[in-house]
Amino acid sequence: MTIKVALSGAAGNIGYALLPLISSGYIFGSKAVELRLLEIPEAIGSLAGTKMELVDCSFPCLTDVVITSDPLVAFNNADVIILVGGMPRRKGMARKDLIQANTKIFSSMGRAIDEVASSDVKVLVVANPANTNCLVALTEASRIPTKNFCALSYLDHQRAKGQIAKRLGVPTNSIKNVTIWGNHSESQYPDALSCGYCVDKDGKNVPLSDLLADDKGWANNEFITSVQNRGKAVIEARGLSSALSAAQATADCLKIWLVTGTKAGEIISMAVYNDQGYYGVRDGIVFSFPCECRNGEWFVKEGLQLSEFSKNKLNITEEELLEEMAAAQELIGSSPMKIRSVSMSTCSSVASLATAATESDMSVYLTSRM
Ligand code: LMR
Repeated sequence: MTIKVALSGAAGNIGYALLPLISSGYIFGSKAVELRLLEIPEAIGSLAGTKMELVDCSFPCLTDVVITSDPLVAFNNADVIILVGGMPRRKGMARKDLIQANTKIFSSMGRAIDEVASSDVKVLVVANPANTNCLVALTEASRIPTKNFCALSYLDHQRAKGQIAKRLGVPTNSIKNVTIWGNHSESQYPDALSCGYCVDKDGKNVPLSDLLADDKGWANNEFITSVQNRGKAVIEARGLSSALSAAQATADCLKIWLVTGTKAGEIISMAVYNDQGYYGVRDGIVFSFPCECRNGEWFVKEGLQLSEFSKNKLNITEEELLEEMAAAQELIGSSPMKIRSVSMSTCSSVASLATAATESDMSVYLTSRM
C-alpha cells in the first residue's frame, strides 16, 4: 500500500528540511510514499526545483510527487496531512498574533480535509498558533474523528530534554518523560518533575525530581522560561524561525504516533483535542498532554499527581487557549468549537460549521517560507 502524504507550505524552510525525512523512509520505513506538495501559486515554481531534487535523491520508496495549489487535489484520499503552511511569526510577534491570518486558512484546510481526505487520515498541525489552528481544522472536518488530529508540541518536548541534559551533563536521550502541558506558546508549562526521569549509565531510571532536588529553583524558573522562549530565541538569532528542529520534531512525532508507538514506560508530548477534561482542563480545546502511542493512536497518560505549582501553570496556559479559541470563533463568525465535544456518532448530523472557503481566503494562504 502506498501512503499518500500531503504537506502544506511545502516550499518553506520547514518543508525543505522535512521532505527528505518523509521520502527517505525515516518515518514510514520501507512503505511506498506518494507526496502531494501544496503551495500558493507564487511558490509553485520553486517547488518544481524541489521536485527535481527529490527525483535526484533516488529515494527508493518515493513513488510520485504531485505539486498543486489546490487543497482538494493535495488532500484527495490523503492518509497523512502535515499542515505547515501559514503566516510565520516574525521578530517581535507572539504566536497568537497570527490568529487573524491563519484562522481562515485553517478553516479552509479543515473543510478541504472534510471533503476529500481518507476517512482514516491523520493530521499534524505545525503552523502557529498550532493548537488553535488544529482546533479550527478539526472543527471544520466534522467527518474525521478528533483523535486523528494533533498539533506539534514535540518540538518543545525535545527542547526541554536538551535543556535538562545540558544541566545534568548527561546525553539528551537519557532524559525521558518530560512533559509539555498546554499551548505551543510562551504560556506552555514544560514540566521536568511530574514524571521525568533519567536513564543512568547502569540502565537505572532515576527520577528527575531526585536529580534536581537541590536545583528546584532552576527547574521551576529558568528551565521553564528557556523552553517557553526557545522559539523566540531562535528567531532572534537566525532572523527566521526554527526549521531544522521543527522538521525533525514533526518527523519524530509522526513516526512515534503512527509507526513505532511509544516505548514501554515512555511518553511523548502531543497537543490533542481534550474531549475528556483530562487533568481538569476544560474540554473543547487542543491541549498538550503526556501521551502514549500504540497502533497509530494516542492515549493521554492519566493519573500523574500534579503539585499546586503545576496546577497553576496548567490554568495559565488553559486560559490562553480559551482566549485564542474565542478570537478564532469571532473570526469564523460561528461558535463551532463546542460542537466537537459531542460524541462522534452525532457529528455527521452536525451541520457545516463555518462560512464556506472563498477565493480570497486562499489568497491569504501564505507559505511558511521564512
Ligand atoms: C518554534 O517554536 O520555533 C516555532 O513555533 C516558530 C515560532 O514562531 O516560535
